Amino acid sequence: MSSDQEILGRADVNDLEAIIAITNTDMAEAIHTVEDNADAIFTWDYEKGARPALNKLYEKAKTSQWNGETDLDWSIDVDPEKVINELQGSNAAGPFQWIIEHPDSPLKNFGDKEWTELGVESLNWRLSQFMHGEQGALICTAKIVETVPWIDAKYYASTQVMDEARHVEVFAKYLQEKLTGYYPINAHLKMLLDDIVQDSRWDMTYLGMQIMVEGLALAAFGFMYQLTDEPLLKKLLRYVMSDEARHVAFGVLSLKEYYAELSDVEMRERQEFAFEAAVRMRDRFLQQEVWERMGVDGRKMVKLLLETPPDQQIFQQMLFSKIVPNCKKLGLLDASDQWLRHRFEEIGVIQFEDWADTGEEYLEFDAVTADRDAASA
Ligand SMILES: [Fe+2]
Ligand SMILES: [Fe+2]
Repeated sequence: MSSDQEILGRADVNDLEAIIAITNTDMAEAIHTVEDNADAIFTWDYEKGARPALNKLYEKAKTSQWNGETDLDWSIDVDPEKVINELQGSNAAGPFQWIIEHPDSPLKNFGDKEWTELGVESLNWRLSQFMHGEQGALICTAKIVETVPWIDAKYYASTQVMDEARHVEVFAKYLQEKLTGYYPINAHLKMLLDDIVQDSRWDMTYLGMQIMVEGLALAAFGFMYQLTDEPLLKKLLRYVMSDEARHVAFGVLSLKEYYAELSDVEMRERQEFAFEAAVRMRDRFLQQEVWERMGVDGRKMVKLLLETPPDQQIFQQMLFSKIVPNCKKLGLLDASDQWLRHRFEEIGVIQFEDWADTGEEYLEFDAVTADRDAASA
């Protein structure tokens, strides 16, 4: 059992100095190399459908493929300021209300111009981090094809590799052609993706990527989808979400079987990994790079964001609305004397534990088949 110092590299989850000390040190490099420490596993058991839920998911994935070049209308003109005004509505300052009223607020003198600029930068930043995360998913899923011992899972994971290539492609294209290019990867996200890729245990790839990173992405895409009226981004998100829901289901269905067999000590290691991932993702949403680009005092902003009372952090909490019920379904909340439950209480996200998990929910997200049926009717 590890201490927070060992899990997070700091003894206090909210240690401001330790959080801002994590920075991206190889921004000028075009490539980044990570050891993946894993054996490639052949299986000689070719019995298709030995795991019916995974087989069903694989068959669904084969008929739900789409083409980012031809299924999205790239001729649509995008005005980033208009997108932002729709996303932010009449209350651009909403999520920062507590900070604005703080005597030490770096946002005190923000007017309409600055709020719009912050919105545009945040949109660029957020979509950029999604894009980098999608590449993480591409690499992780290729790794799962190699490392998972079950044929049904290898088959399914191969379809996810294709899905993730498409996701990286469409986010990169949207950022380059419709917005103003992309932000480098956030240091906290990079640290998390590196940790996931480096772990030699096949289930940790799933836990880090399918449950934590993709669980958060599914929730985040859902908000953005609901709030935006920009037709290209809206359809892009709708299609990505219909893939993403399958990916999270793949994690839940695979790990459910595997975790049922693990000892308490092994479960505790998974809980610690899930907690580490949750904290890294929360840290990334402090969006240090955006403050820097806006010329706002990033240290002050991060400090105030960490001090914002939990009841003012509804958006950040909602990002965990898929992760927590899925962790519960896997037995991760309550194993080892409810260790992860207590940690999720501390970071203010346990309230989602009884929301729908994603094990079956993926069928409701299937936008591609729905559109195809509508077109042929
Ligand atoms: Fe994806
Ligand atoms: Fe995915």
